[in-house]
This record gives sequence, C-alpha cells and structure tokens, in this order.
Amino acid sequence: MKVTVVGAGAVGASCAEYIAIKDFASEVVLVDIKEGYAEGKAMDLMQTASLNGFDTKITGTTGDYSKTAGSDIAVITSGIPRKPGMTREELIGINAGIVKTVAENLVQHSPDVILIVVSNPMDTMTYLAHKVLDLPKNKIIGMGGALDSARFKYRLAEALEAPISDVDGMVIGGHSDTGMVPLTRLATRNSVNVSEFLSQERIDQVAEETKVGGATLTKLLGTSAWYAPGAAVSGLVQAIACDLKKVYPCSTLLSGEYGLDDICIGVPVVLGKNGIEKILEIELTDAEKAKMQESAAGVRKVNELLDV
Ligand code: 2OP
Repeated sequence: MKVTVVGAGAVGASCAEYIAIKDFASEVVLVDIKEGYAEGKAMDLMQTASLNGFDTKITGTTGDYSKTAGSDIAVITSGIPRKPGMTREELIGINAGIVKTVAENLVQHSPDVILIVVSNPMDTMTYLAHKVLDLPKNKIIGMGGALDSARFKYRLAEALEAPISDVDGMVIGGHSDTGMVPLTRLATRNSVNVSEFLSQERIDQVAEETKVGGATLTKLLGTSAWYAPGAAVSGLVQAIACDLKKVYPCSTLLSGEYGLDDICIGVPVVLGKNGIEKILEIELTDAEKAKMQESAAGVRKVNELLDV
C-alpha cells in the first residue's frame, strides 16, 4: 500500500506520522515544493520508526512526482493555511491553482489513485478536483467531517464530563465556521441520547464551539491546526487501505442525495477499498434539512469563484 502526502507542512507531516504509527502502509511519500523540506521531514520521521515501532518506509521529494507513481491513495494538503481572523473561504484565490496542479500531477503518475483533499476551502477544492480530473466520483474525497466530528466529540465529552470513548456524534455540511451542521439530536453517551444529561442550551453551546473549533485554534496558534486534521486524514486513509467499511462524514459529489446536486459537501459515507462505497442518506428533521440547504448555499457561493 503506497500513500502519497502532498504538502510536508504541519498537516501533511502529522498525517504522514499518524499513518506510519498505525503501521498499515508499506510506503509513504511526502512531496513539497520547498527544496529539501519533504526529504528532511521524511528523514526525521524515519528516525522515530524504531522508537514508535513502525515499519512504514517514509521518503520525501522536492516536487518530483515520478516518485509518487503507483500510489494507491494520495492526500492533498498543499496551499496556504488560514491566519487568525481569516475564513477558510478566503484562501481560494491562492489554493485553487495549487490544488489543480497537484491533483493533475498525482493522477498523471497514479491513474488509479484515490484522492483525499484537505486543502481549504475544502468542499470547493474537492469540487475543483472533480471538475479537472477524469476520476470516478467515489475516488475523490474531501476531509472535513471526520475532523469536525472529532471536535464535536471533544466538546461533548467536556460538557458531559465523560470519557471521549463513551461519546458519539457526527457533523455534516460544509467545512466552514457557518456551514457545519453538528447533529446534536443524534449525539449519544454510551447509547443514551445526550439530551438526558445536558440542557438544550448547553447542547447548543457545544454545537457553536464545534463550528468555530478550527477558528479557535487558529487564533491560539497563529495558524491553522495540524494534529487533529492529520489524525482525521490518517483515519480515512486507514479505512480505505484496510477496506474497513467505516462510516465517516466526508465531502463527496452529490447527485440528488439530501436534495442536493452538483456540489461537494459533508454527508456520511462508507469508506472501503474503493473509496466512497456508499453515501448514507439518513433521515433529517426539517430544521436539519434547512441547515443543510443553507450550508450548501454557502459552499456554492465559493464554488462560483472557481474558474472551471
Ligand atoms: C481545520 O483545522 C485544517 O480546515 C482545517 O479546521
């Protein structure tokens, strides 16, 4: 199993590290445009192998995509991250050109690759990848919902004063501060609905904290987060590489599901060896449907800025 990660910055390197630590891939290739950077990160990570107990071989290259040839899965993290006060949408001007070039280079060397898009604005970058590549729709996946759901579970566990492993919850919709739709109605603590433990006001507060989860970190760190994004990507990669048939909310091209068409947005999917193996259409309340429509309108506004 060969995995390429484009962008050896904080998110890309974390992603490579978590993939390696989980030890399911034979090879991870890191690519960056900054001379020597991917090679350096790869070497540093390889020097953790005996300490962390993995056999995955990590190599780096400065922009030589021939080294990525035959990749089964490729992750695109390239582009600029947001700075405090910026929205993910504001990155489109610079990141669209970068993502297009990277995606084309990857597919040229690995025509059967499954792509995971992380660069922001992620839903629009995933849509862009669909527009510029001739790949089947199950093979282009946007990573947002897995991260947003992890942030949701963190905030839920905090409010419940419960261990995170007892908590379940999912965030669908666009990967933006206003577009996320945390499905609070379905959140549980060890199979019991969280409304048994928390007031509606506290649940609503958890939802709001989840939606600004990335922005809160960007303010604290001065740039956008990397541990949780890297871990979330590694989960998707593992689900595909090991054919786990796991359910994650991912940004996927919709053709009528959830009443939406020609848009990439977060919905629950089954991930296995073919990428997105199934889109799960769960029953939403009228209020949740309205939030999804509003979220989709926000994503479409950003898609309109694309030159495709
Ligand atoms: C986030 O931290 C990377 O979009 C990303 O939310």
